[in-house]
Amino acid sequence: MHNRADWISRWSEGRTGFHQADINPKLVAEWPGLVPDAACTVLVPLCGKSSDMCWLLERGHRVIGVEFSAMACRSFFDENELEYGQRTVHGFTIFEAKNSKVQLWCGDFFKLRPAMLGPIEAVYDRAAIVALPQNLWSAYAVQLDILLSGGAVGLMLTFHYPQAEHLGPPFSVSFEHVETTFSGAFVASLLSSADRSDENYWGLTWLFEPVIKLSRP
Ligand SMILES: C[S@@+](CC[C@H](N)C(=O)[O-])C[C@H]1O[C@@H](n2cnc3c(N)ncnc32)[C@H](O)[C@@H]1O
Repeated sequence: MHNRADWISRWSEGRTGFHQADINPKLVAEWPGLVPDAACTVLVPLCGKSSDMCWLLERGHRVIGVEFSAMACRSFFDENELEYGQRTVHGFTIFEAKNSKVQLWCGDFFKLRPAMLGPIEAVYDRAAIVALPQNLWSAYAVQLDILLSGGAVGLMLTFHYPQAEHLGPPFSVSFEHVETTFSGAFVASLLSSADRSDENYWGLTWLFEPVIKLSRP
C-alpha cells in the first residue's frame, strides 16, 4: 500500500490512524537544539495534515509541506483555521496561507526540483521515510540531498521492529538503515531510541522508536 491512489483513498476513507492530534514530544524536545535559527525554512516531506507543522510555524519557521492528498492539505488549513488560497505550479497544486508562512505542495515529493522551492535549511520527517517501501529509500535520500541547502539539518523519527511481523506501512527503518542509505550526502546520528515493545498496537515482538539527526555538510 504505497502508491498515490492508495494514499488518496486512505485519506478519503478516513484510514489515517498515523495522524497525531498532539504535537510530537520528540519534536519539541529535540528541535530547538538542532535548529536554533527559527527564521529558516523547514521542509516537511509526506506531511499529511500534521499538527507538528503548526508548532514549527509558531516557532517562527517558514514551512513547506509536500503531500499526495489534496483532502489532507485542505484539512490542515481548515482545522487550524488558517485562511488559504491555491494555485497550480509545475503540475503541483500549492495550498498557501495568506501570510505565506506555510505552503503545502500537493503532488509527488519525488517530482519536486530545487528551483521550485528555493533554499531550504531544515527537514522534519515524522512517519515519512517509514511510509515508503525500502526500494524508494535511496531515491528519498537523493531527493533530500538535492532539495536541501549545504549545512542543512534534520530530525527523523522512525519505527524499528521485525519487518516480517507486519506488512507496513509503516515500514521498519532502523538507525543503521538510515546511516547506510544517507551516507555520502548526510551524517546520521542516533539521538535516542525508546523501547515501545510494551505499548505497540501491532502486537510486535519488539518495537523501538529511533530519533535521528541528519546533517548535510
Ligand atoms: C504515514 S502518513 C504521515 C503523514 C505525516 N507525516 C504525519 O506525521 O502525520 C504518510 C503521508 O505521505 C503521503 N505520501 C506518500 N507518498 C508520497 C509521495 N511520494 N509524495 C507526496 N506525499 C506522499 C501520504 O498521502 C500520507 O499522507
